[in-house]
Amino acid sequence: MRIVITVGGSIIIKDHDYKKFEDYAKVLRSMAEEHQIMVVVGGGRTARDYIGIARDLGASEALCDDVGIEVTRLNARLLITALKDDAYPRVPHNFGEALEFSTSGKIVVMGGTEPAHSTDAVGSILAEFVGADLLLNATSVDGLFDKDPHKFSDAQMFSEITPQKMMKLLSDKEMRAGTYEFLDKTAIQIIGRSRIKTVILNGENPENLKKALNDKVGTLIVSNQE
Ligand code: UTP
Repeated sequence: MRIVITVGGSIIIKDHDYKKFEDYAKVLRSMAEEHQIMVVVGGGRTARDYIGIARDLGASEALCDDVGIEVTRLNARLLITALKDDAYPRVPHNFGEALEFSTSGKIVVMGGTEPAHSTDAVGSILAEFVGADLLLNATSVDGLFDKDPHKFSDAQMFSEITPQKMMKLLSDKEMRAGTYEFLDKTAIQIIGRSRIKTVILNGENPENLKKALNDKVGTLIVSNQE
């Protein structure tokens, strides 16, 4: 299978040390024995800090996004470093390059592409671009919930959800007021139109990525039946 994996920066560089990169490298390497793996890494707190400084300096929102993209690419370089020879040594800056680098047979690791979306959107566009069989979205919670599970003990996790229902949740004011974030609008639209099989799962334990190949973990996004 061709598998695209998005990993939030808030997971992989949460503790600002090398351990999570090594843990991820181990799991990705083992998955790559049987599958073609492409990874998109997020920016996390470092990106938010840098964006904040750029904004205070009077940078435009697009320029702030560009600063964020640079940080996601730095995180991608760290994962490439952890993967050693199993990764293609360069970070693709666009989808064409990602596809080109994947012909090496190595794991391709990228960050952001252009302003105005998240790395989750990059992951969904990449999955569409390369015709991925599966998109795995590694987040800090077990799946997609009806409200912020960090804040509400009665939050319910969806075992399955359609892109349509996700769009509805996204436009729900109560949902936006909280800090709980899930796939952005662009990502949901792409997943919906391409009908890419997508699983949102807990990436704190990277073994969940492997588990998702055979077992039921997290939330499965199912395409609308038309
Ligand atoms: P992320 O997608 O990592 O956002 O991109 P995040 O909120 O930090 O996600 P986690 O914490 O890793 O899960 C960081 C920032 O980089 C810019 C955006 O400003 C985004 O908020 N960015 C990223 C882009 O503008 N374009 C991209 O393609 C990717």
